[in-house]
Parts: sequence; C-alpha cells; structure tokens
Amino acid sequence: MKLVRHIANLGYGSRKDVQRLIRQKRVTDSAGRPLSDHELIAHDEIRIDGEPLDPPQGSVILLNKPVGYTCSAADQGHIVYDLLPDRFRHRKPTMSTVGRLDRDTSGLLLLTDDGTLLHKIISPKSHVPKVYEVTLARPLEGNEGDVFASGSLMLKSEKTPLLPAELEVTGEKSARLTLREGRYHQIRRMFAAVGNHVEALHRSKVGNLTLDGLEEGHWRLCDESDIEKLLPS
Ligand code: URA
Repeated sequence: MKLVRHIANLGYGSRKDVQRLIRQKRVTDSAGRPLSDHELIAHDEIRIDGEPLDPPQGSVILLNKPVGYTCSAADQGHIVYDLLPDRFRHRKPTMSTVGRLDRDTSGLLLLTDDGTLLHKIISPKSHVPKVYEVTLARPLEGNEGDVFASGSLMLKSEKTPLLPAELEVTGEKSARLTLREGRYHQIRRMFAAVGNHVEALHRSKVGNLTLDGLEEGHWRLCDESDIEKLLPS
C-alpha cells in the first residue's frame, strides 16, 4: 500500500487509479521491472510508463511568472498552477506559493510543500532580501531612497512602519528595490506614497537565487545549491 499512497499523494490519481496502473504493470523500477503494491523503493528509481516520478514531497520549484497570472488557486482566469503539470494541483501536501506576486508582477516565484522552509523564506525575521526591478510612470524625485530606507514609512491601514528598504536608481523612471518583508501590494503602495505610480514590476532575486536564464512561463526544480542561495547565512 505504501507505493500506492506515495504515488497517489504526488497527484497521479486516486489510490484506485494507482492500483490500476500497478495491475497494468505500468509502474516499474528503472530497469523496467514491474512493482507491486507493497514495494516501496527509492523515489528516484520509480517509473510510470518509463518516466521518472514528479519531484518528491519537500521539493521547491522555481517559476518565472509571466504578467497576467495570479497566485491564488481559487481565482478565475489564469493562475500560476496552469504553468505546472496538472498533477501538481492534486499533490498532498499542497504545493503553495512562497508569498505572492500580484497578477501584474512578473519574475521569480517559488512554490513548495515544505511549510518550515516556506515560513523561513517569507518571515521578516529571516531577513531574506527580495529584489524587484521597478518601472515608473514619472521620473524619480531623488528623495525616495531616503524615505524607503528610513524604517518609518507608514502605509495606509498598516499598524507598523515598513522595514528599511534599499533603492538603487537605474534610470530616470526605473529603480531596483530590495525588501525584506512582503506586505500587500507593498511596492505599488510605497511608490504611491511618494507620488509616483508603478507601471511594471519584476522580481529578479530572492536571497542570492536568480532566474538565471529560466524562460518566462517555465519552471524547474531547485537543488540543494539553490536552497543554499535562498537562505544565505
Ligand atoms: N510589491 C507589489 O506591489 N507587488 C508584488 O507583486 C510584489 C511586491
């Protein structure tokens, strides 16, 4: 039953569906030997129709999110789960996004079913920097960097001021902003607070992890070195 549960929890179907795959000898080891219900061999050795299984529980996925996709599974319209194999929606535990990017924000988005890691990355206590490339409607005034770095900027309906954020001006109407927290529409509200308007927003880095050539709309599994980059000590 262990093998059945393992495969069913990865979203390949109900236990009955997986039992059927086993009866049909479509679940094998890497040498093509059919596996039985009670066998549980190493995840990496299991094949279905000759294909390796999806990543095991405790995995982290890196996605280059395009504009126009929301992070909520409950939303109408395009959602980030549309960019992953359909099975991922049926995994137990669920693959959740690590924080959220707005529908109109593109770039580096992580998903994981590892709750402890998720919390470590999003908690302001962990100080994991998140870097955003911002395109603005109006030229920068020159004082924005000081306002954002002050640690005293209060956004409407917030109870505490924002943590200090670093602004690097990259053009007349563009900047790179580094945050160590993630509040609702934070960057859009920060620039609104200084009389500007965000036209485009792209997350380029979390910790020291970048998209590094991953094409828009594509995803890949993170390995150990990626996780080390995510949580630099
Ligand atoms: N700040 C925003 O305003 N939107 C995002 O998607 C991320 C940070």
